[in-house]
Amino acid sequence: MSEHKSTTPTPHIAAQKGEIARTVLMPGDPLRSKMIAETFLDGAKLVNNVRGVQGYTGTYNGVPVTVMASGMGMPSMGIYSYELFNFYDVENIIRVGTAGSFHEDVKVRDVVLAEGACTDSNYGAQFMLPGTFAPIASYKLLSLAVAESKRLGARYHVGNVVSSDRFYNDVENSLDWAKMGVLAVEMEAAALYMNAARAGKHALAICTISDHLVTGEDTTVEERQSSFTTMMKIALGVAAADSADV
Ligand code: HPA
Repeated sequence: MSEHKSTTPTPHIAAQKGEIARTVLMPGDPLRSKMIAETFLDGAKLVNNVRGVQGYTGTYNGVPVTVMASGMGMPSMGIYSYELFNFYDVENIIRVGTAGSFHEDVKVRDVVLAEGACTDSNYGAQFMLPGTFAPIASYKLLSLAVAESKRLGARYHVGNVVSSDRFYNDVENSLDWAKMGVLAVEMEAAALYMNAARAGKHALAICTISDHLVTGEDTTVEERQSSFTTMMKIALGVAAADSADV
């Protein structure tokens, strides 16, 4: 794969190099990044708004953090994470999103730390490997997230997710992933993990369960909000702990 010219701003991110922090938190939804910046960051400044993908850089406990949306799906996550890892000085990307549970013990509002990300996407074909790549989380970020989840007393699970190209999957068919111990379905982690691997950087997807494909259980707006806050505290705790190591 040939390398691309690594200049900033990029076609999709208007920020200058120094305006993006070492750690970037990525929700799927651009409006969420504004809300996260307003709720959790001090001195947040808008650093990107290309295509309405709002990115803010501020500080959390004095540590610089950027929050910028990935959009939905692997092509979109692929673009933003590629540019952040390769064109900016970003070391860590933490996805903060939602997922649908396949597993009885993984209940709505629980947190899933995606240790691995299976996929039904062809995203990995670009790397032209002589086999199948296993996209995994950064052990550094994952172990920090486990410590942070324990400290906060969160209900959390560590395991595999599947990143699907389709939201409207045939449920029967997608439950075959559960037979392989896969906990939940979302749409971005595998592309993020592959881009991190190729760039030699760190990635982790933290998901709250928003719906249950087996029990049909759903979340109310208020419940989504409180489990979202737990997930954000874990992610921000990881950002702060990682910076203490530098
Ligand atoms: N499928 C894919 N992505 C998701 C889901 C789902 O059921 N729930 C939350 N993100």
